[in-house]
Amino acid sequence: NKGKYEHYMQKEIHEQPESLKTTMRGRLIRGGSSKAKTVLLGGLKDHLKTIRRSRRIVFIGCGTSYNAALAARPILEELSGIPVTMEIASDLLDRQGPIYREDTAVFVSQSGETADTLLALEYALENGALCVGITNTVGSAIARHTHCGVHINAGCEIGVASTKAYTSQIVVMAMLALAIGGDTLSNQARREAIIDGLFDLPNTVREALKLDQEMKDLAKLLIAEQSLLVFGRGYNYATALEGALKVKEVALMHSEGILAGEMKHGPLALVDENLPIVVIATRDACFSKQQSVIQQLHARKGRLIVMCSKGDAAAVCAGGSGRVIEVPQVEDCLQPVINIIPLQLLAYHLTVLRGFNVDQPRNLAKSVTTQ
Ligand code: UD1
Ligand code: F6R
Repeated sequence: NKGKYEHYMQKEIHEQPESLKTTMRGRLIRGGSSKAKTVLLGGLKDHLKTIRRSRRIVFIGCGTSYNAALAARPILEELSGIPVTMEIASDLLDRQGPIYREDTAVFVSQSGETADTLLALEYALENGALCVGITNTVGSAIARHTHCGVHINAGCEIGVASTKAYTSQIVVMAMLALAIGGDTLSNQARREAIIDGLFDLPNTVREALKLDQEMKDLAKLLIAEQSLLVFGRGYNYATALEGALKVKEVALMHSEGILAGEMKHGPLALVDENLPIVVIATRDACFSKQQSVIQQLHARKGRLIVMCSKGDAAAVCAGGSGRVIEVPQVEDCLQPVINIIPLQLLAYHLTVLRGFNVDQPRNLAKSVTTQ
């Protein structure tokens, strides 16, 4: 039931304040006077010791689920101190890459039925790793075959393009980082800031959704383009990949997410006054580096659309023209949840304006159960 919405993708984008609330329900504890703020993931509580002892955490997934894991990687590394590596499921299988008994392998999948991810799970089980699932579908193959896991509880996702599952996956993996990290005196302030940020997130997402009309206007400007680049780094490298994936899969427009630190190693050659480029430059430790990327793109007359934190329009556009998308600022590791919202809206409006099928993009299936 689409309710007041025209498409499931649109409905699922706009229901993210609610889906995120459901994802966190009963799992975040902001205790009274004596009790510290903490996270409780029922599905993992008996396995946290083993996970903390593991030599490496390996995230495994495909498409949007892979991107969500990539967004959560920095905070998991920071809070756990354990090396975190990334695997696209098919590539792990192609290489028969090393997986060890001392590894914790985390399988991220909305459907829980993706063939590549499921085969990678069988492979990791054979190699003796502790296998953890992060799935949206209770009773799915991945939920059943993993040793333990967390349901993201985002509710049924019908649009082929994954939207609300992406933000819920990031939130679950941020909670996973808090759970594995445990309480130490040195990271207490950081943990509390993240937990407070999680509590506020549904409201901040609601605020970001107010960019809807602005993104529709931007889509009108981009309707006839051949290509759109998206530059990001740090926490928002994943946002660049995921924004580009949305644009290509539903709007059927070529789009590429680019790690901004790689700009000078090739992509800069593409920059001219015609090709539209989204640069994600919200406030975090990488902000000054992104400012310098913006300056270099300006110097080459790049056609920029800069995403920045509220109030930063002047700071990111020093002397340049171009458009600015201002988003609410949250704790740095949660910023990917906010930053993807305008890009989801942009992909949605581009698709409608270009006259393509929003909920069932050409050639794609919701659940990819074949290799
Ligand atoms: C569980 C209940 C929830 C109830 C809550 C009350 C289920 C599905 N969930 O939620 O209805 O409100 O207790 O305390 O009954 N698992 C995997 N692999 C996965 C995902 C999950 O093995 O990919 C396992 C978990 O380790 C756990 C079980 O499935 O044993 C349920 O996981 P989850 O729903 O996340 O647990 P709770 O949040 O505790
Ligand atoms: C993109 C999309 C796909 C899926 C991928 C993995 O919007 O939906 O890239 O993310 O096929 O699917 P799951 O998460 O079900 O394993």
